[in-house]
Amino acid sequence: MDTVTTIADVRARVRAWKREGARIAFVPTMGNLHAGHVSLIELARRHGERFVASIFVNPMQFGPNEDFAHYPRTPARDADMLRAAGCDLMFMPDVAEVYGQGAGAPTRIEVPVISTTLCGEFRPGHFEGVATVVAKLFNIVQPDVAIFGEKDFQQLAVIQRMSADLCFPVAIVGAPTVREADGLAMSSRNQYLTGAERAIAPRIHAALSAAIRSIATGAADLAAIERAGAESLAAHGFRIDYFAVRRRADLAAPTPADRELVVLAAARIGKARLIDNLQVDR
Ligand code: PAF
Repeated sequence: MDTVTTIADVRARVRAWKREGARIAFVPTMGNLHAGHVSLIELARRHGERFVASIFVNPMQFGPNEDFAHYPRTPARDADMLRAAGCDLMFMPDVAEVYGQGAGAPTRIEVPVISTTLCGEFRPGHFEGVATVVAKLFNIVQPDVAIFGEKDFQQLAVIQRMSADLCFPVAIVGAPTVREADGLAMSSRNQYLTGAERAIAPRIHAALSAAIRSIATGAADLAAIERAGAESLAAHGFRIDYFAVRRRADLAAPTPADRELVVLAAARIGKARLIDNLQVDR
């Protein structure tokens, strides 16, 4: 595996592979890789002959009081994990390389409506930062396919929409959430949990599981399901941002005719803000 830090170097490498007829699979990450990322990488390898991963902690997607400065950075370990997973190219740019001269007031991509609900309500500007950096990375790497985890379900939906609206010739593939044995979704932010917080963190998955069981067995009062989920988490000490049942296609509130749903939760415990979701058909 080679490591490059400049846009010119990534482009040269990808151009050469494309001349050989290779399909390029891409996994954008913010580093601090864990088994969840490895599953994205394994999926990426099934979608292309050459595989590129980026490691870039994107300042634009962090709010002023969020954890940008303290976000865990483990580049040497990340490189080992990517090499072991069969990655061909690791792109690790610095902020100036990605944002260049626009660093003061760079162009931003806004994906309306879907970006302002759920996490967007609690993290204003977050999805603008995500959409902007992913568009930049698509233009830099020019992949044929890009993989994103379903754990960040709203992020995946925003990127699918952005990519379709801006006509990126990139297939967007969602990868199933990887969980610890007790159900907790893997996330770099799990490191912020103390031992006591880690012990109750799987309650989010338990509450989501209870909600999808109710929906799958015919419960129709979705507001009651949302209330029950939020109350069960609050009873365990979580501060709830949302516990919501939405339709999968666009994350709008479901009508009685909608069959494909997703239940999403965001809740804070100690210093960590955890998100998770489960899909259900009714
Ligand atoms: O999910 C992430 O790690 C980030 O939001 C992404 C997609 C790499 C954009 O910075």
